[in-house]
Amino acid sequence: MNITVINGSPKTRQSITLQHIHLLEKENPGHRFEIIHIGNKIPALEKNPSLEKNPALLDEIVRKMQTSDAVIFAFPVYYALVPSQLKRFFELLGERGEPGLFKGKYATSFSTSIRFFDHTAHNYVQAVCEDLEFSYVNGYSAHMDDFFHEAERQKMLGFFNWFSEVAALKLLVQKKYYPRIPGTVVYDPDIPDQGRQQSLHPPAKVVVLTDETEADANLGHMTRMFAASSMDTVTVKNIRDIGLKNGCLGCCTCGYDNTCIQKDGFRQFYDENLKPADIIIIAGSIRDHYLSSQWKKFLDRCFFNGHVPILQGKRLGFIVSGPLGQTQNLRETLEAISETWHMKSFGMVTDEHGDRDEITARIRDFARSLELAADKDLDMGARFYRVGGGKLFRDFIYATSAVFKADHLFYKKMGVYEDFPQKQIKKGSSTPCSIFSCP
Ligand SMILES: Cc1cc2nc3c(=O)[nH]c(=O)nc-3n(C[C@H](O)[C@H](O)[C@H](O)COP(=O)(O)O)c2cc1C
Repeated sequence: MNITVINGSPKTRQSITLQHIHLLEKENPGHRFEIIHIGNKIPALEKNPSLEKNPALLDEIVRKMQTSDAVIFAFPVYYALVPSQLKRFFELLGERGEPGLFKGKYATSFSTSIRFFDHTAHNYVQAVCEDLEFSYVNGYSAHMDDFFHEAERQKMLGFFNWFSEVAALKLLVQKKYYPRIPGTVVYDPDIPDQGRQQSLHPPAKVVVLTDETEADANLGHMTRMFAASSMDTVTVKNIRDIGLKNGCLGCCTCGYDNTCIQKDGFRQFYDENLKPADIIIIAGSIRDHYLSSQWKKFLDRCFFNGHVPILQGKRLGFIVSGPLGQTQNLRETLEAISETWHMKSFGMVTDEHGDRDEITARIRDFARSLELAADKDLDMGARFYRVGGGKLFRDFIYATSAVFKADHLFYKKMGVYEDFPQKQIKKGSSTPCSIFSCP
């Protein structure tokens, strides 16, 4: 069987995920693997976003996928999804708009991670694969260390054998996602010039981060309506203006002292806009089954903070244009991020229901309840995403303290390791760990 592997790790040949794929390759000499490192090809494909100038590269990749017997999308989980580079690749495939491009071609996903929100990453790949008419077969989620354990290696090999048989026999697979019905409302309200007056509390600093382009008219009007509805000081920043060169490269050099090796103004933007804000609003339009790859790039680049919840306690809200109600996986991934960052999540407002006036009313009330939440110092407590994820990160950082030194020092200082059960037993009573209970 000819298998095309799309390696979505920006680390390309250094990728841990790739080493797992090499194991499948080595143990299955009867199959021919062709590996395409997509993580470093995006700038080449992006030279001309309309793909007119450089169609050959994408055409060549598409042709390889079409002529192989099966495709494996291999990737590390990045912030509950795939890395921005692979997300962009999926967008480029979708932009071709060719129906039936991969009709009936068997595909699966293979990830490595520490298994924090790996399921949402696989859900996403399944959803885009089904849009592209692949016959998607359930994927495999390996822990990044699985390669070193014989029992885990056997499981991976078993998975591959099963997948290749399913593809060879062309067994029918069950679809999980169905085409979404896009909203039809053109949201073009009359926006008042000034924000509302008398604040309930000392004015909060609100930053609205958007990735709006000319194509996102609804989003633009929604963010402007939000700004006009707020009694606080609202600054709107377009993340496209930062000029991010790359997504996260996955090098983890930042693990040492939270310094990113990429010097392109992202850090300055982060320090000047996110750190001083009391309330952060993320505004974006749904693009395939997530926000845009531009947003994913921004979020991935936040990894320089490691696992230190630098935005802890700030409020976070989302303005989303598009069928969010039909994209539960997106909601889950955004909630995962806000919980991981220990932020006080304030939910989402969308343009998917009702008419112009109803959307306006909802945006206004969203702004008002945000103010009320600040006024009452509302805290919804820590939920599974934060508590479960926190314990996962605690164990991971403890075991990898040599790489994630900055996290390790912070966790030690915050008493996170005091939360290990054996320490609690010794103490005879359990004390809530400050970092998991969001002061
Ligand atoms: C930017 C970034 C975000 C990450 N987000 C997650 C995550 O949400 N969940 C998780 O389990 N692991 C996460 N990880 C860990 C990677 O998935 C893991 O280290 C993976 O095995 C790396 O594979 P690679 O070497 O093939 O790139 C993240 C790593 C980076 C660099």
